[in-house]
Order: sequence, then structure tokens, then C-alpha cells
Amino acid sequence: MRTASALAHPNIAFIKYWGDLDPGLRIALNSSLSMNLDGLHTRTQVRFDESLSGDVLILDGQPVTGPALDRVTRFLDHVRSLAGVRFPAEVTSANNFPTGAGIASSASAFAALSLAAASALGLSLTEIDLSRLARLGSGSACRSVPGGFVEWQAGSDHASSYAYSIASPSHWDLVDCIAIVDDVHKPTGSSEGHTLSGTSPLQAARVADTPRRLELCRRAVLERDFDLLASIVEVDCNMMHAVMLTSSPPLVYWQPATLEIIQSVQAWRGQGVSVCYTIDAGPNVHVITLSSEATRIHERLRSIPSIANVLLASPGGPARLTDPFTGTG
Ligand code: PMV
Repeated sequence: MRTASALAHPNIAFIKYWGDLDPGLRIALNSSLSMNLDGLHTRTQVRFDESLSGDVLILDGQPVTGPALDRVTRFLDHVRSLAGVRFPAEVTSANNFPTGAGIASSASAFAALSLAAASALGLSLTEIDLSRLARLGSGSACRSVPGGFVEWQAGSDHASSYAYSIASPSHWDLVDCIAIVDDVHKPTGSSEGHTLSGTSPLQAARVADTPRRLELCRRAVLERDFDLLASIVEVDCNMMHAVMLTSSPPLVYWQPATLEIIQSVQAWRGQGVSVCYTIDAGPNVHVITLSSEATRIHERLRSIPSIANVLLASPGGPARLTDPFTGTG
């Protein structure tokens, strides 16, 4: 039977990917660095079946058609062509993080789908091959294939653009306290955002300065230097949001609560707490801290009325094959 199931974690970027050199192959304009998020995951089963009339996608128990299915079909076409087959597939996928929480799931989704689909068709791919494959579905998904702290070397073509682990999950006991801001509006998706990034006059400067930030961030992670990490992660986040805010049309992902959390985090760091923030293409704030401070930070975040929920995640492992999965949880 051509069936396999896999699990992958989302990741939070400390150095962000924003803008493509090649949008079709999702080859980034700059390299990036992230941490996988343990405890949060996507589980996916893929079943290739000649008797199906076309690909089928079931997400969190609901059949999905339209652009989301088209994207999965385009992705499966890459896997089918690698394996030299043409069978349709049924893809059953579920996230264990709260629906509507506004946490981007495309990274964990395409990392899990890559591993399950390649395995179902008997392809024996290296971790680097799988990372390249996942990138074709969603750029940041290539960083959810390896474990722990992961660098995506942007490269310049399909062969040279992939991610690899620079440190295992146990290397550094960081915790991401994800502050979910209430009233999450549907944001402009990241694929559209990458396309708009070139319209900002700030994008060229952001991209040109990335090797410097990446080098400092890599050193901060490898040497477990929280102060260095905090300074570079916040600047990198602010630079990406500066590009978003100055694109045509401008992308404004922040809400009043987002700024309230930024200012709280900065005040806590001023009091000597090891804590910093980073924000993806949405209003939620990833508050990064050490495990020794996580309870205190969690409590402080919970006391801010505009925060609906706080999820905690430590560094997560790589994408992995799992037992058969039937679609719940
Ligand atoms: O992989 P995409 O196309 O969803 O882009 C991810 C973009 C950010 O989350 C904002 C930054 C990043 O590097 O993860």
C-alpha cells in the first residue's frame, strides 16, 4: 500500500525570510535561521491510490478544495515526478494547535507532507533532499525538516537552497511563549507578501545587511548568548516589518496589543529579565525567553488583558515518520 504518515513542527524565525529570488521555486533572497517549536505539530497521512479521480485534501476533518488543494496538487506533482508515477493521492492533515490562533501552519504542513509523500512512494531522500522538496511547498517549510536550531542557506538555485541543523533541540533551553492576540484579522498571506517586498525601498538594505545579522545570530545560538540573541532577533523582526509597512500597498500586521507586548517585553528586559520578541506575518508576538524565566514570563503575559492565550514551546525535533494517522489531533 502506498501510504505513510509523518509529523512536523512549525518553526519561529530569528532571522526572517521575506522575499524571493525565484518565486516559483521559493528560493529566498536571504538566508534565515529558526527554532522548531516542540509541542505544536502537524500530522499528515498520504495515501496514493490509482482509483481516486483526483487529489483529495482533508484538513482538520474537513474536505478542502480551491486554492489550498491546488497548492497541494502542485506540490504532489513534484513528488510524483521524482517517483515517476501519476497516481492521485488523499492527504489527511491536522494541526494540534488551536484553530484560528493565527499561527502559520504552512511550514509544519509542507514538512510533514514532504516526508509522508516521499515515503509513501518509496523515495529514499536525504534530509537535505527533503528540505529542498519541502521548500517547494512553502519556503519556511524547509526549516521544519531538520531538528532544533536550523539555518536555511538561501542559495541561488534548487540544488543550493536547503536547510540544515546547526544545533540540536537540547543545545539551549529557550522557550517561545506565543502571545495570541485577540481579534485576529485574516492577514495578507506570506506568498503575496514575498511578492510585495520588492516594492519597499527598504528591502534592498534589509537583504544586503542580512549576512551580518545572520552571523551574529548564529554566534548567539552557538554560544548561548541571550543578550546578543535578543538584540539581533528584535532588529531583524523590526527590519522585516519596516519592509512590510513600506510596501505598496503597505502591509500592517500589528494591532495595538502587538505594540503593547513589544513595549512590555522591552521594559522587562530593562529590569534584567532574559526576554525578547519576534513577530511573523500576523499580530501575535513570539516572546522568547530562557526556561528558567518561562513561568514568570507566562504569568506576566497572561495578565495583559488583550492577550487571548499563551502557548509555550521549547526547541523541537525534526520531521519524522509516525504510526498510521486517521485525521484527529
Ligand atoms: O514560508 P512562508 O512563505 O510562509 O514565509 C514565512 C515568512 C515569515 O514567517 C514571516 C518569516 C519566516 O522566515 O518564517
